[in-house]
Amino acid sequence: MRQAGRSLPEYRRVREGVPMLESCARPDMVTEITMQPVRRYGVDAAIFYSDIVVPLKAIGVDVDVKPGVGPVLGAPIRSRADLDQLRPLEPDDVRFVDESVRALVDQLGETPLIGFAGAPFTLASYLVEGGPSKHHEVTKALMHSDPELWHDLLSRVAAISAAFLGVQVAAGASAVQLFDSWAGALSARDYARVVQPYSARVLDSVGTVPRIHFGVGTSEFLPLMAEAGADVVGVDWRLPLDEAAHRVPGKPVQGNLDPALLGADPAVVDAEVDRILAEGRGAPAHVFNLGHGVLPDTDPDVLARVVERVQAAGAPG
Ligand code: CP3
Repeated sequence: MRQAGRSLPEYRRVREGVPMLESCARPDMVTEITMQPVRRYGVDAAIFYSDIVVPLKAIGVDVDVKPGVGPVLGAPIRSRADLDQLRPLEPDDVRFVDESVRALVDQLGETPLIGFAGAPFTLASYLVEGGPSKHHEVTKALMHSDPELWHDLLSRVAAISAAFLGVQVAAGASAVQLFDSWAGALSARDYARVVQPYSARVLDSVGTVPRIHFGVGTSEFLPLMAEAGADVVGVDWRLPLDEAAHRVPGKPVQGNLDPALLGADPAVVDAEVDRILAEGRGAPAHVFNLGHGVLPDTDPDVLARVVERVQAAGAPG
């Protein structure tokens, strides 16, 4: 459950007065915040507390995560000269990630830690637009008007993503998730042509642990996301999970409770959980999750109820 922490009072307490990206660079905070949802909910896996822009910040990109907004850049990257800002990520740039993951693997014991990175398109969109974007129009214009610059940009970003995952895996992460949160803005054709190859490069670089590949609004090209090198396909809430499983034969699926429905009556939430569990039985395996991140106003008790119901359904016997 991404950003599960945001809805927890214990998270807000730890983060008080500390900017988001600063908290990601402090192993004491990273380990505490990663453990909070595990302690409270007893979930079956932990997701590393960090952000997709952490590796960009670590190579000197002027980026900040603004509360209620998301990542914002000091200056967007739109020309060949701008590209020079994107030097490769060296493990030494993110020693705090190595240290945090090692401490977490130790504390978590049997509970797996999921590492993650932003996919090349989603990261490139932040870099080119300079912040969150509804239409991604500057990014799409660049992609179509200057294919060479686009390819160089995605190559560099793919290498950064791969290096960021590499550090987490080397430090002991049990699985990784590649987030292409904004890929749903693309046509299937553009995705296949000028985005998928770079996501595939990142996923191919992960040698030894299972890879989850997730996008929002990507129902139309789930098979392409699977082919990029996913061991598990993450599904948002738009597509029934049995239909998703049908589109990616042979692949385990992850998802897909609509995070907004956590605010509905408990009986509604229970029924949604049951429906999704039933739909997931059509896949070779199902990792229960939300269809996107937890919304900040979510009642932690509702999440606890969901976890309990899923675990009761999954328990042997
Ligand atoms: O729950 C966790 O702590 C998991 C770690 C995690 C965060 N971001 C921490 C975070 C993960 C896996 C992410 C990934 C991430 N970050 C994505 C991809 C996944 C997705 O949700 O699609 C994206 C697109 C980002 C960029 C980003 N960072 C956004 C859009 C936001 C939300 C801005 C807002 O306030 O609405 C962030 C901030 C962020 N990242 C928070 C957390 C816990 C909230 C920080 C806060 O306000 O306290």
